[in-house]
Amino acid sequence: AEMLPVFLLFLMLSASVYESTQPGCKLPGSKVKGTFQDGDIIIGGIFPLYSKTDFSETLWKEPPKPISCEIFGFRPYRWIQAMVFTIKEINQNSELLPNITLGYMIYDSCGLATWALEGTMRLITGQEEPIPNYQCHLQSPLAAIIGDGGSTASIPMARLLGLYDYPQISYFASVPLLSDKSQFPSFFRTIPSDNFQSHGLAQLVTHFGWTWVGILVEDTEYGELSGQSLKEEVLKAGACIAFFETTPIEYSERRFHEVITKIKQSLANAIVVMSYDSYLIAFMEEVARQNVTGKVWIASEAWSTSQILSKKELLKTLSGTIGFAIRRGKIPGFKGFLTSLQTSRFKNDIFMKTFWEQAFGCKWASQDSYRTTSNTEIGTAFTVCTGTENLGALNISFFDVSDLRITYNVYNAVYSVAHALHDLNSCVPGEGPFGNGACAHIQTFEAWQLLHYVKNVNFNNNNGEKVFFDPNGNPPAHYDILNWQLHPDGTIDFVQVGTFDASAPVGHQLIINESAIMWNGERVQVPRSVCSESCSAGYRKAARRGQPICCFDCIPCSSGEISNQSDSTECTKCPDDQWSNDRQDKCIPKSTEFLSYDEPMGVTLASISIFSALIPVTILYIFIKNRNTPLVKANNRELSYLLLLALMLCFLCSLNFIGNPSRVACMLRQVAFGIVFALCVSCVLAKTIMVVIAFNATKPNSNLKKWVGPKLPNAIVFVCTVIQVIICIVWLSISPPFPEHNMKSQIGVIIKECNEGSTTAFWCMLGYMGLLAIVSFVVAFLAKNLPDSFNEAKFITFSMIVFVTVWLSFIPAFLSTRGKYMVAVEIFAILASTAGLLACIFLPKCYIILLRPHINTREYLMGKGSKST
Ligand code: TRP
Repeated sequence: AEMLPVFLLFLMLSASVYESTQPGCKLPGSKVKGTFQDGDIIIGGIFPLYSKTDFSETLWKEPPKPISCEIFGFRPYRWIQAMVFTIKEINQNSELLPNITLGYMIYDSCGLATWALEGTMRLITGQEEPIPNYQCHLQSPLAAIIGDGGSTASIPMARLLGLYDYPQISYFASVPLLSDKSQFPSFFRTIPSDNFQSHGLAQLVTHFGWTWVGILVEDTEYGELSGQSLKEEVLKAGACIAFFETTPIEYSERRFHEVITKIKQSLANAIVVMSYDSYLIAFMEEVARQNVTGKVWIASEAWSTSQILSKKELLKTLSGTIGFAIRRGKIPGFKGFLTSLQTSRFKNDIFMKTFWEQAFGCKWASQDSYRTTSNTEIGTAFTVCTGTENLGALNISFFDVSDLRITYNVYNAVYSVAHALHDLNSCVPGEGPFGNGACAHIQTFEAWQLLHYVKNVNFNNNNGEKVFFDPNGNPPAHYDILNWQLHPDGTIDFVQVGTFDASAPVGHQLIINESAIMWNGERVQVPRSVCSESCSAGYRKAARRGQPICCFDCIPCSSGEISNQSDSTECTKCPDDQWSNDRQDKCIPKSTEFLSYDEPMGVTLASISIFSALIPVTILYIFIKNRNTPLVKANNRELSYLLLLALMLCFLCSLNFIGNPSRVACMLRQVAFGIVFALCVSCVLAKTIMVVIAFNATKPNSNLKKWVGPKLPNAIVFVCTVIQVIICIVWLSISPPFPEHNMKSQIGVIIKECNEGSTTAFWCMLGYMGLLAIVSFVVAFLAKNLPDSFNEAKFITFSMIVFVTVWLSFIPAFLSTRGKYMVAVEIFAILASTAGLLACIFLPKCYIILLRPHINTREYLMGKGSKST
């Protein structure tokens, strides 16, 4: 049942041309053509000699012809010749397979799975009609099959051959799928699996910083499977794929146009192309015609050394191409073999005649030329081939054996079979690998027996290179990296600029000599191929919604955050005591801030307080000068002096708040302020109480008389102040204020401030002061209407109102400002309240003393005393 589809396939193959020189082997109805040579053991070969795509110049001018396998390939023909040469060499070698002659049967596959399958069937059944499961004719057994070139044909071949256990060794089929030994148990190859190439291409792409790459693949299994592996590797390497397109293997104007538009519109300048050269040529011609410039083409092994692509029309487009190529090797003697090709020597080689025609541009007169149709087509002007033309005089790349890569793979493939056969032949009975030490016989061996030997083949070829297959049937992966450089004479040189060795340790696999590379248009700089230019330090990448990670916007770090590398994905926060610099790429120490004497605000406040402090001093001076006037004498002269001194200290204690908050300054600040103010307010309180007492003492029989005099006010002032002193001592001893670096409350700066230590103590101190103030306010208020010659109580009431108001409004202002402004607010409150006290209590007195001295006399007082209220 497995074979049914294959069988039907053969029935469907229709006949057009048949030609085979092997007598008695006619197979009418087949297109597949072959070349044969008999031997004791046959090695089969399948080669994509012809191709069905027309890549001639005519494409530029007229629509393509319908598909037919008419295009002769010099390159595959060289592969065929390599196989023929190798077999000849082995036959002449008296050490390898002595006394055994190898023969070959080589079929053309035209790169088509169907043709390759038919060729395979013919090989395993014999040259007769390909009947599955029959081996019709051969005395000489088929050993193995070399081929096919393309994976498209090799995959079905491998499935078929796996069924019969025939070893198959491909020289060019590289798709990763073929490494799967459960599906393809008898498949081997002398070309590395594309997994390695994909990995290498991905590394190459990232090496040049190309993160935005386009991928074009031919529309076959090779394109699909190897392209898939390339896609994965490129993504794994961190680059992104701008587009992934298939190029048709036949000319298709619509599709070409689509793809080329994509290429033109894309920002991707690096385009990896995985396509066989003869499938690519029409496409590249279209690309050249549409003037697509500025792109770097990256070639896979399938076209990196293509002669047909390095032609004049494509030079402008393709120079600068970077390609992965299979490692090359020398085949000693091959050049001589090629140049000595003689039509007469190859009677059986029907391909030879076409080769001759193509090489010399002549036509065979007889009808036995393979390309029967071409004669009429080209029509008129051609010379007739004689067979005596001199190959040696031809200067075509076919004879250039300096750069053999796939050809060298063919060479190794054939040798592998020969060595396997040799090993099989040298088996010592009793020590053989098969049941009970049995050996296989060289004339009658089964395919699976040879398969065993192929798996284990391991030899040094004529180049001294080791040839073997790993458990998956692959050779070691080693690639050359080529650069297509424009030669002054208008040709392309494939210059080796590096290597990729998959067996090297990670990081050393890809070696590139960048200085040797010539980019397209002789640019010196590596072309760019990115979706977004990289973000410099100070910025972070922000992904664009719905787009690949390589497309991003650069967003500056927010203040306080930095990124010190280009292309960072995140900004990092600076430590608490540091802040970002202007470029956001470094954390620098934050500037510290406090209200200092160096800044205008500090200086202003300081000078205001010093200046203000002079006022009480002046008043004190005036008072002392007029100390004997009734106004000064009234209501306790000493208390007034003390109050004036206290007010001066109040002004001065605001200086404490300016400047670098040291440990001592912090302690002194609130404490000095608290004590001085308490002193002030208690003086006021004492004054008020004295007004009350003085009034009441004038009443007859008052026992308050004994309180009149300096004792009571002194006691009040002392006690009230001492209470505050105690509060402060307790505060200082339990948890004193200390300087602190505040990094949180204001961004970007460190605020040097005093921590109150115990806020409770702080509020206690303020509260106590408030209490004193309120008590004096209440007392003064009650006493405001008492007859008093200088309205002392009234003014004290005012002053207390001012004082309390200032401090009440200070609370919200204090709480809502930060840093040095908070300190400034406190200074302001101190100055304002002190000024309030000073003004309310002393200005009226000064006014009288200085400007109304006539009121300030005992006589006046006595006279008016009763009137005044
Ligand atoms: N390595 C390629 C593959 O595995 C080579 C290739 C691609 C090829 N397309 C081709 C070879 C067509 C011959 C014909 O398929």
